Amino acid sequence: MIKPIVTIAGLVFAMIGTAAQAEPIVIKFSHVVAEDTPKGKGALLFKRLVEERLPGQVSVEVYPNSSLYGDANELEALSNNDVQMLAPSLAKFERYTKQLQVFDLPFLFDNLEAVNRFQKRSKGRQLLRSMEKDNISGLAYWHNGMKQLSANRALRLPSDASGLSFRIQPSAVLESQFSRLGASTKKIAFGEVYKSLQSGAVQGAENPWSNIYSQKMHQVQPYITETNHGVLDYMLVSNTRFWFGIPHHIRTELEGIIDEVTFEVNRAAEEANQVDRARILQAGTSTIIELSPEQREAWREAMRPVWQQFESDIGEDILKAAQAVNRKQRD
Ligand code: LMR
Repeated sequence: MIKPIVTIAGLVFAMIGTAAQAEPIVIKFSHVVAEDTPKGKGALLFKRLVEERLPGQVSVEVYPNSSLYGDANELEALSNNDVQMLAPSLAKFERYTKQLQVFDLPFLFDNLEAVNRFQKRSKGRQLLRSMEKDNISGLAYWHNGMKQLSANRALRLPSDASGLSFRIQPSAVLESQFSRLGASTKKIAFGEVYKSLQSGAVQGAENPWSNIYSQKMHQVQPYITETNHGVLDYMLVSNTRFWFGIPHHIRTELEGIIDEVTFEVNRAAEEANQVDRARILQAGTSTIIELSPEQREAWREAMRPVWQQFESDIGEDILKAAQAVNRKQRD
C-alpha cells in the first residue's frame, strides 16, 4: 500500500524539479546598428525588462553592430529560427512585401509625428501582418528618424547630386529616387557603409543623424544636407511559429514589455537624433547645409514622381492613408 504513495510523491517531486529546472526560452535579438542609437537602446531595454519580469523563463541575448547576422542574412536566419528577433529598417522587407515600400517614398511624410500617426492607424497596423505567409510577424514599429543626404560635395539643389553614386538600402524606391537626380546607386550592407564612403566606392549616402554619428560617417562625408526627405524606421519582427509557440501567459507579458519599450524608443528617437546632429556639428568635420524653403521644394519636385511609379505596387489605399496623416487637423 505504501509503495504507490511513495511513487506518487516521487513523481510530484520529480515534476516540480523538472519545472524548476526548465530551460528558459532564449530570444536572440540581432541588429546592425551601434548600441547608442534608438534601436540599439531599445534592444537593451527589452532585454532588461524581460529579464526583470520573466526571470528564469525568458532570456534575451542582444547582438549589435552586425556581430551575429548582417543585412545579407538576418532575415533568412529569422525564418530558420536561428535568431528570434530583429528590427530591420522598413526598406529591407521588399522581397516579402511591396506594401512596405510606402515608407521609402520621398517627401511623403512631413515629419516623424506624421509617420507615427500612419503606423497607429488601421492601414499601418495591417502592414505588421503583411509577411505572415513568410513566417515573419511584425510586433511593433520603432522610430529612428528622418534621413539626411551626405556627400563629398555640397548638395543644395537636386542637380548637385547628378553623377554621384549613393549607397542605398535594398529598395527599388530608393534606387528610383536617386535616378531622378541623375545619380547612380549601390546597394551596400549597413556594416560596409563607412568603408565604402571612405574608399570612395560611393560618394554619398542617406541616413538619420544617429546612424551618421554612430558609424562615424561624418568623418568621411564633408557635407551633410538637412533634407529630412524620407523616413528610416524599423519593424520589430519575430519568427511567426516561434512567437505563437511561446506559452500564452509568457507571450502576453512579452507583448506588454514590447509596448513599453516601443513607447520609450519612439519617445526618445527624435531627441537622440538631435543630440547626434549637435555632436556632428561639434566635431567640425562636416558642413551641415540647411535648405531654404525654395531649395527644399526643388528636391521635393525632383523626387516626387517616384510616388506614381510605385503606387500600384504599394496599393492606392495605403498611399492615400499615408498622405492623409499629414493633415494634422484630422487628429
Ligand atoms: C541602413 O541600412 O542604412 C539602416 O537600415 C541601418 C539601420 O538598421 O538603421
